[in-house]
Amino acid sequence: MFGSINNCHNVKDFRKLAKKRLPGPIFHYIDGAADDEITYRRNTEAFDTCDLIPNVLAGVDEIDMSTTVMGQKLAMPLYCAPTALQRLFHHEGEIAVGKAAEKFGTMFGVSSLGTASIEEISSLVSTPKLFQLYVHKDKGLNKDLIDRCKNSNFETMAVTVDTAVGGNRERDLYTGFTIPMKLKLGSIFSFITHPKWAFDYFTKPKWELSNLKNHINEGTNVMTTIGDYFTKMLDNSLDWKGVEEINKNWGKQFAIKGIMSVEDAKKAVDVGATAVMVSNHGGRQLDGSRSPFDQLAEIVDAVGHKVDVICEGGIRRGTHVLKALSLGAKACSGGRMYLYALAAGGQLGVEKSLQNLRSEIERDMKLMGVTNIDQLTRKNIKFR
Ligand code: LAC
Repeated sequence: MFGSINNCHNVKDFRKLAKKRLPGPIFHYIDGAADDEITYRRNTEAFDTCDLIPNVLAGVDEIDMSTTVMGQKLAMPLYCAPTALQRLFHHEGEIAVGKAAEKFGTMFGVSSLGTASIEEISSLVSTPKLFQLYVHKDKGLNKDLIDRCKNSNFETMAVTVDTAVGGNRERDLYTGFTIPMKLKLGSIFSFITHPKWAFDYFTKPKWELSNLKNHINEGTNVMTTIGDYFTKMLDNSLDWKGVEEINKNWGKQFAIKGIMSVEDAKKAVDVGATAVMVSNHGGRQLDGSRSPFDQLAEIVDAVGHKVDVICEGGIRRGTHVLKALSLGAKACSGGRMYLYALAAGGQLGVEKSLQNLRSEIERDMKLMGVTNIDQLTRKNIKFR
């Protein structure tokens, strides 16, 4: 009835399965983006503006697709970007994503708005972990999150800088998506028509915003939309000085996530970041913003010799990763590429999605005539 993850050969297949399995408001929260969703679509379409130029007869029996990002050796050049609320999508939540990432030797991002605690994740997942810090107005909360990450040996942190206010996610307005979920007639109907998800939701331990709940009630006991949460709870007075202070307090590998301009990439270097994540938050914040892939080359040219540049967003295929690496990205990351799979099948779903993408990267490297990702250069790519 629900299809099978074994029949999911790409991200689109997982999206279809997630749509079947999830109540509408939850699916549309994952799938949706801001305003007219132009940026969301462009994030993937941008990869079609250029073509790969393969070389042949390169002796490609052994492939090494490993990369080093933020001091972490990753077995593949693609990792799971941090995303919120994972136990709402599947009861296994963050632990499932972390374990799947661990299996593939890649990095796993954990959102401040995650549904498993920093400590639990640290004790169960041993792959490199990236904590996504949302800087809140509550300074005690910010300090607490940083201290907990230090005590739990998180290797890396990324401060998200594209959420000064909530994006206009109209699908969430139509569906009435809030956290916790509102029990209205429509949502009850949606639960009845998605019995497997509803069974897990009502029989497994209740999810909460594990890392925030000791400081704030919003999202755990007090109902909010994600847009209102950003606008009300996050510190929109945050500036470069504030980020520099956070970096000093953290003192380890530090990325700024949500950089889109060359000027900001340079400022990120000035405040001591070790990586910039070129990202527009999956098109969920400023619609009409350029795509990470469209901005990548300029940012690599400006700061790529000083920090790791990561291309985040829109990745649906191994060839997308190869194109970003050819322009000089150290790695790529994505959210929906594994979230649909989490919703569709928990840890096994995420593993299958990562397996699909890993196989594509390996196959595509062989077809491109490269044995190591360093061999991917701008000579391999031509814009139309
Ligand atoms: C989002 C946040 C929570 O919904 O990352 O985009």
